[in-house]
Amino acid sequence: MKTLRLGFIGAGFIAKFQALALKQVRGIDLVGVVSPNRAGALAKYATENGLGDCRVYANVAELCKHCDVVAVFAPNHVREDLIGQVFAAVKAGAALKGVICEKPLARTVAQARRFVAMAKDAGVPTCYFENQLHMKPIKAQLQQLRPQQEVMGPMTLARCSEEHGGPHEGWFWDPVRQGGGVLSDMGCHSIACAWYCLTPIGKPLTYLRPIAVNAEVALLKWGQPKWREDLLKRMGVDYAKTPAEDFATGTITFKNPDTGQLSKAQFTNSWMYEKQGLRLFMDGMGPGYAFELNSLQTPLNIFIGDAAANAVADSESALEKSTASRGLLAVESNEADLYGYVDEMEDMRDAFMAGRPCLADWSYGVEIVRLCAAAYMSAEYKKTIDLTDPATLAELETFESLIAQGKGREVLYVG
Ligand SMILES: NC(=O)c1ccc[n+]([C@@H]2O[C@H](COP(=O)([O-])OP(=O)(O)OC[C@H]3O[C@@H](n4cnc5c(N)ncnc54)[C@H](O)[C@@H]3O)[C@@H](O)[C@H]2O)c1
Repeated sequence: MKTLRLGFIGAGFIAKFQALALKQVRGIDLVGVVSPNRAGALAKYATENGLGDCRVYANVAELCKHCDVVAVFAPNHVREDLIGQVFAAVKAGAALKGVICEKPLARTVAQARRFVAMAKDAGVPTCYFENQLHMKPIKAQLQQLRPQQEVMGPMTLARCSEEHGGPHEGWFWDPVRQGGGVLSDMGCHSIACAWYCLTPIGKPLTYLRPIAVNAEVALLKWGQPKWREDLLKRMGVDYAKTPAEDFATGTITFKNPDTGQLSKAQFTNSWMYEKQGLRLFMDGMGPGYAFELNSLQTPLNIFIGDAAANAVADSESALEKSTASRGLLAVESNEADLYGYVDEMEDMRDAFMAGRPCLADWSYGVEIVRLCAAAYMSAEYKKTIDLTDPATLAELETFESLIAQGKGREVLYVG
């Protein structure tokens, strides 16, 4: 088989971004999409851009019959139902080689484990899409610093952050549907990326053992009356009643199982970042060496003065989550590649075609959901969570943060 037939479930923001990435990937045809909205537009885009003869299917079962791999790109609150439909289709005869799920794998550890169990029961390999592990600059720094790592030892501190001014759809802001606020939505990226940077080259993604988590969450901007009203008007979500955090930060301590060496991952995530648009900032320190990555330091800046401001066409085509359309602006001319979507598609293609595991599967996704849950628990209990304590580990299995339960007022300041 030379070409993998891929189907999308969902046709929103990430589906479009992944379609953009597919323009740069060989050996994958986008052959179908299922979505209650925008499916036609996505299929048209795919066909017009030579991504494949993309059809709109009426339901998941029909889509699965015509694909080798399907990707779940739908919102978090509909995921369990959709994943159930995918595996029901497999049991009814659809010959899927693999199923992809976007981050975060699930809203709770218990739910994430159900997804893994469903895949195992159906006997279908899985792929967890965490694009930041596939970012070319992250891979390049690991490769370039390999000799230093081999002589001096692996990194002991990694700091990863992802910040922007807030998500594009109401369901992200609603902690009950999404599963929390910015920690659940973007902390999963930064925790995964920092863990990856600390991991000795060549070792599995979960080689380093997480032993402690200390975190804080806060509502710093979107709880203020003016911004709450704005949110209610634009997104239909009322932070006076069901707030979520727009800021999260924390530290995870890891232990090397062979040497006993400790390392720390710091993560910071916000939806109240007030610069040009999305910023990914990652840095890492090993003994005697370091790296630093800032996605807003682009090779291309453009300037638009007041007199020319009316001429702005589409600020979001310059930079994801752009918040300004005049002044000195950063432009990322190939975000789909920079953020790792191209490389994660290639990894998935090669893995499913060869019958080998993807870099990250759903079991790894469970670990990320578990670390996010531990971070919420730390913020809620105002203490460091000991991940070597069996009682704490048992509690995490069924933990759901107060914020995700819609009780964020008990832990967040609302102005
Ligand atoms: N890796 C990243 O950087 C990244 C970026 C954005 C979103 N995501 C993830 O991707 C997922 C989707 O986010 P998004 O931004 O595309 O959301 P979105 O709201 O922009 O789009 C969701 C799409 O799913 C469709 N949908 C809703 N219910 C459905 C159903 N029952 N069956 C099929 N389709 C359905 C919607 O109609 C819409 O087309 C989320 O889990 C999110 O966390 C990842």
